[in-house]
Amino acid sequence: MSDIAPVPAAPHTAVIIPAAGRGVRLGPGIPKALRLLNGVPILVHAVRAMAAARSVATVIVVAPPDGAEGVRALLDEHPLPRPVALHVVPGGTTRQESVRLGLAALPADADVVLVHDAARPLVPVDTTEAVAAAVRDGAPAVVPALPVTDTIKQIAAPAREGEPVPVTGTPDRALLRAVQTPQGFAPDALLDAHRRLAGLGGEEGATDDAGMVERLGLPVVLVPGHEEAFKVTRPLDLVLAEAVLARRRITDGY
Ligand code: CTP
Ligand code: MG
Repeated sequence: MSDIAPVPAAPHTAVIIPAAGRGVRLGPGIPKALRLLNGVPILVHAVRAMAAARSVATVIVVAPPDGAEGVRALLDEHPLPRPVALHVVPGGTTRQESVRLGLAALPADADVVLVHDAARPLVPVDTTEAVAAAVRDGAPAVVPALPVTDTIKQIAAPAREGEPVPVTGTPDRALLRAVQTPQGFAPDALLDAHRRLAGLGGEEGATDDAGMVERLGLPVVLVPGHEEAFKVTRPLDLVLAEAVLARRRITDGY
């Protein structure tokens, strides 16, 4: 018997970046992940944000179904802040399907898997590290979240299209949180959720990966999110993202 403890394997965080959406709410044009911010595609900002985290060793980009080769070429043109293993796989018609296709490329030795929207290009590295650290500390699912600033109304479907929408309630805002990405998971928890819930209810309830793990009855915990992790969804978000980048250029020379 030896009294030398085995050397623990280095932590290996793998990130799946769903980037296969069209970006309908952003308006007509090229897919949202390929739109430029400060001259650089949104997707490249997102990959750089993930590669900046020191535990991240693998990044799996889920490209538009017919665009994997083009995305691979685009990523090869843009240097990353740290070396990572970079894979590009074609995505699906829903975000949930795209994440599932990304999970198929997950390395077996990953001890944390993060899922990060390409559409959140400016998430600070500290948020990513905090999520990964909470998973390494034992939480099966970790979500960055912020208090909501708007009051949220619960509604019923209007009787007829174009009619005023009936309000059915006002949930206590203090008990609501707006969630962001990267969301972090013990790999088995997310793999299990996708295996067991695949196809159930289509896109329903699947705007969020943690929601799938919740449905398995596993605990999901929150860590503080960040204002700069906002999702580029509508045209005004592009203006905000450019402003954040302009401020970073001044304050960090970045
Ligand atoms: N996504 C994906 N595959 C899909 C749909 C969405 O990988 N079939 C990705 C998007 O590329 C995005 C993330 O999921 O990075 C979050 O989705 P969202 O912001 O809704 O992006 P889109 O679906 O592209 O936008 P929209 O809903 O306005 O069309
Ligand atoms: Mg969408």
